Amino acid sequence: MIQRPRGTRDLLPPESRLWQAVEELARTVFASFGADEIRTPAFEPTELFVRSVGETTDIVHKEMYTFEDRKGRSLTLRPEGTAGVARAWIENRLHDRSHPLRLYYIGPMFRYERAQQGRYRQFSQIGLELLGADSPLADAELLLVLHELFTRLGFDDLQVHLNNLGDPEDRPRYQQVVRETLAGRREALCSDCQRRLDENPLRVLDCKVPSCQVIVADVPPVSDVASEASRQHVAAVEAQLERLGVPFVRNRRLVRGLDYYLRTVFEVVSPRLGTNAVLCGGGRYDRLISDLGGPSLPGSGFAIGEDRLVDVLPEPFKERVLGARRLYLVPLGAPAQAEVLALAREWSRAGVTVEVELTGRSLKSALKRADKEGFAAVAILGDDELAGGVVAIRDLVASSQQVMAAAAVPDWWKGRG
Ligand code: HAM
Repeated sequence: MIQRPRGTRDLLPPESRLWQAVEELARTVFASFGADEIRTPAFEPTELFVRSVGETTDIVHKEMYTFEDRKGRSLTLRPEGTAGVARAWIENRLHDRSHPLRLYYIGPMFRYERAQQGRYRQFSQIGLELLGADSPLADAELLLVLHELFTRLGFDDLQVHLNNLGDPEDRPRYQQVVRETLAGRREALCSDCQRRLDENPLRVLDCKVPSCQVIVADVPPVSDVASEASRQHVAAVEAQLERLGVPFVRNRRLVRGLDYYLRTVFEVVSPRLGTNAVLCGGGRYDRLISDLGGPSLPGSGFAIGEDRLVDVLPEPFKERVLGARRLYLVPLGAPAQAEVLALAREWSRAGVTVEVELTGRSLKSALKRADKEGFAAVAILGDDELAGGVVAIRDLVASSQQVMAAAAVPDWWKGRG
């Protein structure tokens, strides 16, 4: 038997309905704040990720699905969405549009990670990028949109962690601090971290190896060396969040695993998830577009891990989605079978969720199935009903029966609430 690749998943019904409902709500909330969808390729030139996410990050260093196409070009399945959006912005000359632009995307990302619960090799992100605004208000808006989405999904226990990474000009000073603090303990670090210490000391701080995390706890937080301008920026973001009643905590240890960030960075954490508790990550990346060869254009954004989000969806939301009502339309006999699809089309156009019995089940067997599958009601169409333009309805929720005009079913269905 051929099996799916390690770290990938098949999304089956009814869970796929939860994914649809989450995506639908995300689209609604994002659009209500002025965002439009962008769709970029699932693979890009490898160089794009090397130059944006950063050569020394775990993602680029060991997690990319990179391959050569038939002409020998190096391509990579996108490990994240921001780089592609930045590339598309430059390539499609979106600077001709008025700014800021709010662009969202929903789709699969690929990272060669150790597969486990909440960590997959193909996973889906719901991301939002806000391009062309350097104001703290932009960061606060992103966190507000996130808060709205999570609140409407019914979450009340998520934590927003926020930090200040400082400006790129502060980085050399901080790298010095990290190197000096860890100088005597170089040998105790994992081999990756020893390399990181030379190449990009900030990356030592998000090493996943537990013994490294213990050592790194002594390094002064990055926000300590942040410029005055970046402090004022993040303080203004925080003041906005307080004003809006969007709760957050300051986490001075938060550095994020991608190189393009500066100033504001944040993560949303669920206390109901274990090791892979981060549901969403984001921050500001004012130099990304210019680093990729575009003009100077500030940006900030976030991406939600949809797989993890669906894993911890609040029960009331799940019940609402999975409990959605369906009507089971059962034709009995050849004449009714000949008419049944036309009737289903009529009802479907009038907003009824109707599923036609196609396999010629008997009434008894159809009723058994209706019970098992949780249909809200069964509409029975036999010879007599057909002749009279009516259907016999069995309401499985109310345990009642009645005969009504076929044309009256949509109104009755809506009236059931
Ligand atoms: P990231 O923190 O690498 O940021 O990923 C964002 C979210 O994607 C994570 O918080 C997590 O929920 C989910 N995620 C990441 N890797 C996996 C995996 N292997 N399996 C399941 N879920 C995963 C970014 O990707 C940035 N592009 C976010 C961003 C957008 N920053 C600015 N704009």
